[in-house]
Amino acid sequence: MKPEQASRTAGYMALFRAGETVRPASQRLFADSFAEHFLRPGLRRAVWLARRPVLASFLNRYADHRLPEARTSAIARTRIIDDILGEDLEASGLRQVVILGAGFDCRAYRLAGLQRATVFEVDHPATLATKLAVLRRLLPKIPDHVRHVEIDFNRQRLPDGLAQAGFQPARPTIFLWEGVTNYLSAEAVEAVLRYVASCGPGSKIIFTYVHSGALDGSVYFEGAERLLRDVAKTDEPWTFGLAPADLTEFLSKTGLVLDRDLSANEYRSLYFGAAAQQMKGYEFYHVAAAHAGERTEPGTPGPIGSRNVYAPSYFRRRGRMRDTSRLNALPQTQRRG
Ligand SMILES: C[S@@+](CC[C@H](N)C(=O)[O-])C[C@H]1O[C@@H](n2cnc3c(N)ncnc32)[C@H](O)[C@@H]1O
Repeated sequence: MKPEQASRTAGYMALFRAGETVRPASQRLFADSFAEHFLRPGLRRAVWLARRPVLASFLNRYADHRLPEARTSAIARTRIIDDILGEDLEASGLRQVVILGAGFDCRAYRLAGLQRATVFEVDHPATLATKLAVLRRLLPKIPDHVRHVEIDFNRQRLPDGLAQAGFQPARPTIFLWEGVTNYLSAEAVEAVLRYVASCGPGSKIIFTYVHSGALDGSVYFEGAERLLRDVAKTDEPWTFGLAPADLTEFLSKTGLVLDRDLSANEYRSLYFGAAAQQMKGYEFYHVAAAHAGERTEPGTPGPIGSRNVYAPSYFRRRGRMRDTSRLNALPQTQRRG
C-alpha cells in the first residue's frame, strides 16, 4: 500500500457500512453514522440516493456484480463481530480493547460497550491521520477513551507502539483484527497472534482470514479467481491465507485456543437467513475467535512453513513453495475444512 495515502480498502468498508446504515432501521444489521463521512463526494451522493429502496437495490446489484458478495460478507461480518464483541465485553467485563488495522471502523465511537473501555486504534499513519481529520470535524473532541497507535505490522513490533500509547499488556484484553491478515506477511500475522496470547490471562482475539485455497487456487470459490486477479494489480494485494482445517493447530502454536470459525456462508446465514444460500461469492472469507491458552515457551517453533499457510514470499525464501498439486488430489472434504 502507498505509505502516504489512506487505505483504499478501508474506504470500501466505510462504503459498505454507510450503505447498510441508510436502510430502514427495521431491516438493517447495524447503523454506523460515521461511515459516510469517510467517502468521496460522488460515493456519498450514491449512498444518499440509496435511501430510496429502488435505487438501493439497483446500487447493491451493481456493487454485487463488480465484487461478488463482498458487500454482504462485509455487512454480515461487521454485525457478527459487533455481536461477539458485545458478548465478550458483557461476559468478561474486560475493559481494554485493541482494534488492529482499524481503518475507518468506528466501533470505538458507536458501540456503547466500548465507551466504557480503553480502546487502542492501530493502523498505518496515513490511514489514522485521515480518520482523525474526519472525526475531528464530526466530534467536539476525540474521546479520552480512544488512543491511536501508528504501525506497519510488516515492519514494526506491535508491543512497542502499544506500550507508548499506555497499553497495559498484563491486563486481559480483547483484540479485533477485521479485514487485515490477508494483506500481511506470515511472520507479521504470527507475531501479532503470539503477542495476543502473551497478554493478560483471558485475552481474546476476533479476526478474519481468507481461505488459503482461494489464494493458491487449490479450492474453487465462485468469483475468487477474478477478484484475486484484480486485487493483485492494486497496491493492497492479498498475501496471506489459512486453511480452516488447520486453524486450530496454527493457533495453538501461537499460544491461542480456537473458539469459533465461520465462513461467509455461515455468518451470512445467521443474519440473512435463507437468502444467504443465493449469495454466491466471498465464501472464502472467514471470521474466527480465539482466546489466550497456555503460554508458549520462548523459542517454540512457529507454524509457518506447515501446509496450512499461504504466504508465497516466505516459502520462496525457504525454498519450500507450497505444492498445490498435492492439495488438488485430496478429496474435497479434506480440502475444505
Ligand atoms: C480492509 S481494511 C479494514 C479496516 C477495518 N478493520 C474495517 O473493518 O473497516 C484493511 C486495513 O488494514 C490496514 N493495514 C493493511 N496493511 C497494514 C500494515 N502492514 N500495517 C498496518 N495496517 C495495515 C489498512 O490501513 C486498512 O485500514
